[in-house]
Amino acid sequence: MSESKIPINTKEIPFQDRYKLLIGSIVPRPIGFVSTISPSGIYNLAPFSFFNGVCSEPMTVLFCPVIRGSDGQEKDTLKNIKANKEFVINIVSEEIAEKMNQCSAEYPYGVDEFKESGLTASSSVKVKPPLVQEAKINMECRLLHLVEIGNKPGSGTVVIGEVVYFHVNDDVYKDGKIILSKLKPVGRLGGTEYCRVTDNFSLPRPTVKVPVSENPNNR
Ligand SMILES: Cc1cc2nc3c(=O)[nH]c(=O)nc-3n(C[C@H](O)[C@H](O)[C@H](O)COP(=O)(O)O)c2cc1C
Repeated sequence: MSESKIPINTKEIPFQDRYKLLIGSIVPRPIGFVSTISPSGIYNLAPFSFFNGVCSEPMTVLFCPVIRGSDGQEKDTLKNIKANKEFVINIVSEEIAEKMNQCSAEYPYGVDEFKESGLTASSSVKVKPPLVQEAKINMECRLLHLVEIGNKPGSGTVVIGEVVYFHVNDDVYKDGKIILSKLKPVGRLGGTEYCRVTDNFSLPRPTVKVPVSENPNNR
């Protein structure tokens, strides 16, 4: 194994190169497939792999739309969330990976990616944006915070939302847990690469003989 490292001063390289370092290093990334609705009622659907859970009390998720490098504009998803304060996170399984990718094309504002991809919009319970029917898990979310990080191309916004309603296909859910082998989630890697979650291994949590209150593993 090589011991030498290449030093990279992130302040001295263009944002596009910093982006490549991020997406090549933070892997695999989960994909939040986000449905929103425009003020005139048109649906929007786009994938975001700067996506993760935050905590469960309240049940909270985040994702990060960046300002487009091509035209310096904010993404349609963010426009809609600023207007309506709601969104749905749909989880991407192998079966819908290609359709998800189709929805990442830069369609003009007002184009409904459900129609473009052939995915089915079905009604949510608590929010206006629809569920992707073909996704095995859907999380209806209400906006909690928008955190703007910069205002240039490549800058982004952290969208933080509370999951107010959760849908899971019955064959994917047993004894309160999600069954990974049925969910078949897809992860994003660098460039146009994706991965399946199939080559798993298990590591039992270690026990440490320190008082419970001081044990950092006890989180
Ligand atoms: C798998 C995947 C993950 C993506 N992740 C992000 C992301 O985290 N942030 C982002 O701004 N764009 C991301 N994109 C690009 C957006 O999906 C793309 O810009 C899309 O056109 C945005 O749509 P909208 O303008 O309708 O919101 C991703 C694309 C793909 C295929």
